[in-house]
Amino acid sequence: MCDINLEDVVPNEALDAFKMLISRNNIGLACDFLMRHYRDEYWPRRMGPMPPLRRRRSSSIITLPKPKSVSTPISVVISTRRSADDFANEPISIEDLATVLYMGVGITGWTQAYGYGKYPLRSYPSAGALQPVEAYPVVNNVLGLKSGLYKYDPFDHALEVLRLGDYSSLMADIALGQDHVSRASVVIILTVMYARTYWKYWKRALRYVLLDSGAVMENIYLAATGLGLGVRAVGAFYDNELCRFLDIDCMGEFPVVLMLIGKGSL
Ligand SMILES: Cc1cc2nc3c(=O)[nH]c(=O)nc-3n(C[C@H](O)[C@H](O)[C@H](O)COP(=O)(O)O)c2cc1C
Repeated sequence: MCDINLEDVVPNEALDAFKMLISRNNIGLACDFLMRHYRDEYWPRRMGPMPPLRRRRSSSIITLPKPKSVSTPISVVISTRRSADDFANEPISIEDLATVLYMGVGITGWTQAYGYGKYPLRSYPSAGALQPVEAYPVVNNVLGLKSGLYKYDPFDHALEVLRLGDYSSLMADIALGQDHVSRASVVIILTVMYARTYWKYWKRALRYVLLDSGAVMENIYLAATGLGLGVRAVGAFYDNELCRFLDIDCMGEFPVVLMLIGKGSL
């Protein structure tokens, strides 16, 4: 759990106390001891420059329409949310996709942080405000957009075009052959930039990126439900194939869940 290299992080004067706790097999207490007394001293020494928050992957950009406002009360949205069993092979509008992306991972405010005078805040809570979650829509059937792989840019509320083509069957294959994946109008692949959260939180980062992406998953469920769309999370997929498709390394950045969206057929 607290998988550390002692020499790297434990100050000399604390080594004996730390080793004593470890020898009693109380790893949790040993980690807590380290956090309580030495966090401020060793943490900043480990931190190089923050990994970039914004990484452009394509110069081909499509600006998205403004997100719609959804009037369904939150209590109704939460209590009626369900995973769609399947999807009618019908288009959704680009406004719907823009709304789901904005409500899922959009920039909703600004603050001052990490030496930046203007630092974004998101629709989802994020450990240390490090915002590791990236959204890659794979468009199958969206009015006004060609089929293909895109990346959402929350700064410009735009899509970067990564690769055009029909990837609906490939998506289903990558999702262990789950047929309904091919009938979704769009599959939003959520990845996490593990390296961003690791930069500050080190071994706790795995918990935090998964918590952050879980919040995004629920945002997307609720946004789609509020818009009257079908939605389903899919966590079963071949990691390596998905990483190859996205052209990511599966280490510093890795996929966590696919969000299927379309006209639901429950
Ligand atoms: C992390 C996670 C992974 C999931 N993976 C799959 C999946 O691979 N395929 C699928 O059809 N549904 C998947 N689901 C959807 C669940 O089956 C669904 O949420 C569950 O049956 C409860 O139904 P409800 O969402 O309608 O309440 C997943 C849901 C979550 C949260």
